[in-house]
Amino acid sequence: MGEGGPRSGSDEGSHFRLNRRSLLAAPLALAACDRFASAQTPAPEAAPLKSLAPFPIGATGMTGQLSDAVWVAQMRRHVSQLTPEWELKPERILQPDFTCDFSASDRIVDWGREQGMRIHGHTLVWYSQGQQAFNDDLPRARFASEYDRYVSTVAGRYRGRMAGWDVVNEPVAEDGDGLRDCHFSRALGQEGYIVRAFEQARGADPEAVLFLNEYNLENIPKKGATFLRLVERLLTLGAPVGGIGAQSHLDIEIPAGQITAFMRDAASLGLPIHVSELDFSLRSDSPLDTRSLGQKRAQQVARVGELAEAFFALPERQRYAFTTWGLRDTDSWLVREDGRGWRDESPLLLDAQGRANPAYQAVAAAFRA
Ligand code: XIL
Repeated sequence: MGEGGPRSGSDEGSHFRLNRRSLLAAPLALAACDRFASAQTPAPEAAPLKSLAPFPIGATGMTGQLSDAVWVAQMRRHVSQLTPEWELKPERILQPDFTCDFSASDRIVDWGREQGMRIHGHTLVWYSQGQQAFNDDLPRARFASEYDRYVSTVAGRYRGRMAGWDVVNEPVAEDGDGLRDCHFSRALGQEGYIVRAFEQARGADPEAVLFLNEYNLENIPKKGATFLRLVERLLTLGAPVGGIGAQSHLDIEIPAGQITAFMRDAASLGLPIHVSELDFSLRSDSPLDTRSLGQKRAQQVARVGELAEAFFALPERQRYAFTTWGLRDTDSWLVREDGRGWRDESPLLLDAQGRANPAYQAVAAAFRA
């Protein structure tokens, strides 16, 4: 038995001698080794996530991961839909002179389609990007024409290859009190830039499901309510909003029921719903966090299970996809990026070796219901 093997009580701290007592103990030791060996046998790989559900199971991927054979194999095993984590964002495509660089986006989209995956585009318009080209000094007419051209050019390039698009990402104010102010809203109006983006995307791609995507909808009920009112308002204005994207970066400390309540309210709009960026950090920003790892795992299981049950309870036509933001713990932005790494962080369904984390079982149970 290697380092850390079981120590039989009789030999604890004593020098092991090959004598009558030892020979008699041998079978017991071997039995113990066998038991311990079985305990040390690595847990099997998790059953394919995509086999758990009658709807698409998604995860993010980036071109930088395509050379990682283990990641490629795990993605092929587990997911039926790919969201490029970076390559379809304005920060990667849009150049300061309004030209577009599609080299990375083409590569990751082609790869996903070669694996037989659906592709979900993330994201055409995001308040946090595009400021260099779409700056406040740009004449309004030029701003509007370049804005329309960017959205229609990107959506049009992937026409017929995108199951859906996050057309506008994170339009609601941080605390849910109204809409977010940004370079787009200042130039085109708080609702105007959103309506315009949906209209341009629909004109460029008549088939893709067009989503409004947001975070903290479950974590902050006020924000969820503002978001749903915005969707209703946009529909009234004639914007072709075709889906609701709930990023679901879950705060595992929220009370039971908040997730279910939001999903119920979202479902009432009758649109397809995408759990679009699910993760569930164990980390707390509070220096006074006294929870044990076991307590945090239990909170994770409860909240992720609640989300999976609420999603599974949707009518089939409203279950667009269930997507995690990364496949394995080590693929998560919460683990990968400086300043976010945290010793015990385990925010996804699979561990670094592709084995089931506790939250995986909760999802599996919810989807078996
Ligand atoms: C994140 C990426 O995962 C990071 O690698 C990047 O540094 C920042 O953006 N909500 C979103 C995603 O809609 O686009 C963000 O992705 C995570 C939060």
